[in-house]
Amino acid sequence: MLKERKLIIAGNWKMNKTVAEALDLVHGLKLELANVKEVDLVVCPPFTALSEVSKVILDCNIRLGAQNMHEKNGGAYTGEISAMMLKEFSVRYVILGHSERRQYQKESDALISAKAHGAHASSLKPIVCVGETLAEREAGQTEKVLETQVRGSLAGLSKEQMGETILAYEPVWAIGTGKTATAGQAQEAHVFIRRLLADLFDETVARRARIQYGGSVKPANARELMSQADVDGALVGGASLEARSFADIVKNSI
Ligand code: PGA
Repeated sequence: MLKERKLIIAGNWKMNKTVAEALDLVHGLKLELANVKEVDLVVCPPFTALSEVSKVILDCNIRLGAQNMHEKNGGAYTGEISAMMLKEFSVRYVILGHSERRQYQKESDALISAKAHGAHASSLKPIVCVGETLAEREAGQTEKVLETQVRGSLAGLSKEQMGETILAYEPVWAIGTGKTATAGQAQEAHVFIRRLLADLFDETVARRARIQYGGSVKPANARELMSQADVDGALVGGASLEARSFADIVKNSI
């Protein structure tokens, strides 16, 4: 399908895959997706598998992403990983503000914005996640929540930095639940976010920005979601853990 912006489809492996399992998966993806040029492809393994996965994808069309980083470049932060450390493994992207981190690690918009600045300082492209909970949607607060998260998480970024930032709209109620937003709901939220970007930056930045949809994306629903004018890719959790299903999502999106 012809899209205004190049699709970007990323697999978020979350806390899954030993190194051996990660290698299996990425070898499978290489075989399945070697000829895909129409879509930017990203895999985000756990930190422990980045090194080995990076060696396997050196010569192919799959890029590497991390699932989180610390906002500072070094220091006394036990258990944390910096952007500089990710760069050692040719990591290009980093997921920031995933709803699981907002929920379990209590990450705030201000922290996510600090991380986004840290990522840009090291030339990593952040994938900044936003999305409402079911209670917020049912209370009619979706737009208010998205506005707060988008403004807060992108605070202080320049137009140039926004040009190197990906957004992911991930309604929390659709993540790992098997409940996908309808294509219409996704499109509506994406249009709203794009309008916000025009307001925060300018029309050109908004027109160029890529906004992924995430939340129970599967081979069976990928085509309809990706055919929406303002849906520019997917952030895939569960269905990215097997080469065949991730590859089918990609193939069904082209
Ligand atoms: P899911 O996860 O595809 O398993 O719903 C998406 C995500 O959390 O990025």
